[in-house]
Amino acid sequence: MSVTVVVGTQWGDEGKGKLTDLLAREMDVVVRYQGGHNAGHTIVVDGRRFALQLLPSGILYEHVTPVIGNGVVVDPGVLLSEIDTLAGSGIDCSRLVVSGNAHLIMPYHQELDALTERHLGRNKLGTTKRGIGPTYADKAARVGIRVQDLLDPKIFRQKLDVVLKEKNLILAKVYNRLPLSADDIAARYLDEFAPRLAPMIGDSVGVVHDALEGDRNVLLEGAQATFLDLDHGTYPFVTSSNPVAGGACVGAGIGPRHIDTVLGIAKAYVTRVGSGPFPTELTDEVGDLLVERGGEFGTNTGRRRRTGWFDAVMIRHAARLNSLSEVALTKLDVLDTLPELRVCVAYRVGATVHRHLPYHQSDLHDAEPVYEQLPGWQEDTSGATELSDLPAAAKEYVQFLSDQIGVRITRVGVGPGRDQFVPFAAL
Ligand code: GDP
Ligand code: IMO
Ligand code: MG
Repeated sequence: MSVTVVVGTQWGDEGKGKLTDLLAREMDVVVRYQGGHNAGHTIVVDGRRFALQLLPSGILYEHVTPVIGNGVVVDPGVLLSEIDTLAGSGIDCSRLVVSGNAHLIMPYHQELDALTERHLGRNKLGTTKRGIGPTYADKAARVGIRVQDLLDPKIFRQKLDVVLKEKNLILAKVYNRLPLSADDIAARYLDEFAPRLAPMIGDSVGVVHDALEGDRNVLLEGAQATFLDLDHGTYPFVTSSNPVAGGACVGAGIGPRHIDTVLGIAKAYVTRVGSGPFPTELTDEVGDLLVERGGEFGTNTGRRRRTGWFDAVMIRHAARLNSLSEVALTKLDVLDTLPELRVCVAYRVGATVHRHLPYHQSDLHDAEPVYEQLPGWQEDTSGATELSDLPAAAKEYVQFLSDQIGVRITRVGVGPGRDQFVPFAAL
């Protein structure tokens, strides 16, 4: 029996989907524990690309029970269309268990997400406009509607009528929009979505604990990442859930004593989508090259990702917040053509040098990265399967990162394919 958490250590899109898929071979249950369809997790199998938003990345394996945990927010229309798309590729999703305690994303959540962003103007967060923030806000305000309410039309309608009254006032009086119809929403959710989802709605906590009691392996798949965490990220430029490893306990219904391994995923450089501070951001031709070679466009929204040098200060902090056991480093191959590389080892703020993340975010906005320069390898690494296949300078780069973050790097990604990983051991 083992429980592993896969967690993003930067600002998302580190390759969590790929790692989850890789580890899922040895897993019996894979649980998504937070977030919603703001996530985009890509898996490439034999040249076929699967971009998952809500479904756990273990879904491609028939032996895995995929679970959408209580911490997730679910847009049922998106979930069903994702299931249909996979069915079209021959992937059976009938094993899926969706927690009855997960909250539903409603049409007003999505509309309010977009309207709030527009209202914020140049101060916008750059959300995915999927309704994530408004849904978690309603959950906290205790006016949310849960997945299990789909099974009880009377309760669903009661809750909807109460909450929609207030939402329609906001839509009409604040944003000058047309009110939404409770009848239309109920028809879609209760008549269209509920009958299809009903067989999948269940006791996700029971599924996880039955697996553990049966000595089976469970993987908890994070979405988003440490620096998008509502509590620990670069607030307010964050998502509205807790992607950190502690969030896995809450979002899957498991105590911390059960967690055996926390696997942090880090890109060999850094990317960010949306607004917010980014000390090592590159706005020059090197940044463009990382976008181009790394295909750095959002899986989900198609937005161009901002790019920058690897930031060891961030990952040192991620190591603390998540109790990282080890790190998988992805996309090393993207750096193959660069003659030299930089790694941020500290921040300079005024006269002070910070090796750890400054607690005051204004310092982060003003932080000047202190870089160490390392030689590039200028060789194609994408065919490497063993450590000895990597050029010496590539191995030294990885070892340098591992020494700087103080956590073992155990795998290095050299391409998007399921098996494009090199096992790494300290040099
Ligand atoms: P996630 O959100 O953390 O699951 O990551 P995404 O799927 O949004 O973004 C990661 C992207 O990098 C995807 O397109 C992956 O196919 C791709 N990828 C993952 N690992 C590697 C790697 O080692 N090398 C390259 N070149 N691409 C990778
Ligand atoms: P995965 O799981 C990268 C970002 C958005 C925005 C902020 C808030 O694929 O790594 P939200 O819609 O969540 O309210 O947006 O968070 N964001 C992500 N960035 N990868 C993601 O997911 C993200 N999910 C949200 O761009 O800046
Ligand atoms: Mg992604």
